[in-house]
Amino acid sequence: MQLKSKITGTGSYLPSKIITNDDLAEMVNTTDDWIMERTGIKERRVAGQDEANSDMCVEAAKKAVSAAGLKPEDLDMIIVATMSGDMPMPSTAAIVQHKFGAINAAAFDINAACSGFLYGLSVADKFIRTGASKKLLLIGAEVNSKFIDWKDRGTCVLFGDGAGAVVLEPADDGRGILSTELFTDGSMWDYICLPGGGSANPPSEETLREGLHHIKMRGNETFKVAVRTLEKLVINTLEKNNIEPSELAMLIPHQANLRIISATAKRLNLPMSRVAVNIEKYGNTSSASIPIALDEVVRAGRLRDNDYVLLEAFGGGLTWASALIKW
Ligand code: UT7
Repeated sequence: MQLKSKITGTGSYLPSKIITNDDLAEMVNTTDDWIMERTGIKERRVAGQDEANSDMCVEAAKKAVSAAGLKPEDLDMIIVATMSGDMPMPSTAAIVQHKFGAINAAAFDINAACSGFLYGLSVADKFIRTGASKKLLLIGAEVNSKFIDWKDRGTCVLFGDGAGAVVLEPADDGRGILSTELFTDGSMWDYICLPGGGSANPPSEETLREGLHHIKMRGNETFKVAVRTLEKLVINTLEKNNIEPSELAMLIPHQANLRIISATAKRLNLPMSRVAVNIEKYGNTSSASIPIALDEVVRAGRLRDNDYVLLEAFGGGLTWASALIKW
């Protein structure tokens, strides 16, 4: 039987501080009703002042690695998917390697915005299938709160912080990742971006004054592309694998907007009971949303051996991606 990569452990971490919609209504011109109706978000988590991305990664990693029955030094590779890392250089993965004591692991970051975890899963899958990695830790983690303009009601109500992790190992029993699909259309790069601080707009007093160090989003335009694209993506992914939507045990979508999640589920004719939804509690945690939702689903015992699980995401780039797993 062909070698596949199997998820052998999951873990997640959410910072304890909660910001509710009512809290936000005291900061910007918004209401709990507007946010709930347009997004499905009720509250989100926010990292502490001294809490960096790598700190959250390590907390999620501890749980995933322990669930897999491994120790940090067993890992041979760490990939962190993030767009809100500790610093531009070195990678957040290198800092995680040190803090977690994963002394035998090569470590690097991947940035595909909200699709980052699935881009990371696709790369991880290749390392495992080729035999180049045997015990790989993949983390999706974001500290979006530190890059948000808390005066911009168009974005500050949407995002949250968190981290989710999975351990991947080779398996030859037919179970594991069946396929991953990755797509990018860079012509819409400015639909969701953080324009300041890189080589295009190096940090300066001017970039600070113009607010270029904050996440910008053309929300409504992104929404329309997301719904159209994800509907096509999930159908194509299942067709490619000769699997009917009715055979799916669970859909685990990126949590950007409940209306986008519902539209995708509807296209698949899937009842919401078979869709992982936690956006109400955490908002949009970008590349962390899928591994957090997956961890919750696994720990709640909602997945059984051989279940078909479909993961999908859409985000800045623009990027979109899917993964089909035989659990
Ligand atoms: O994770 C990466 C991918 N991200 C996404 O896929 C996000 C996609 N976008 C969305 O989820 C939605 O577009 C939003 C939730 C961001 C916005 O919902 P919408 O239904 O597209 O609203 P809109 O942007 O068309 O705005 C409608 C109205 C506007 O007022 P006018 O022009 O009609 O007077 C906005 O100014 O709502 C206003 N508005 C708000 N009102 C109260 C925008 N933000 C807020 C707010 N509270 N927080």
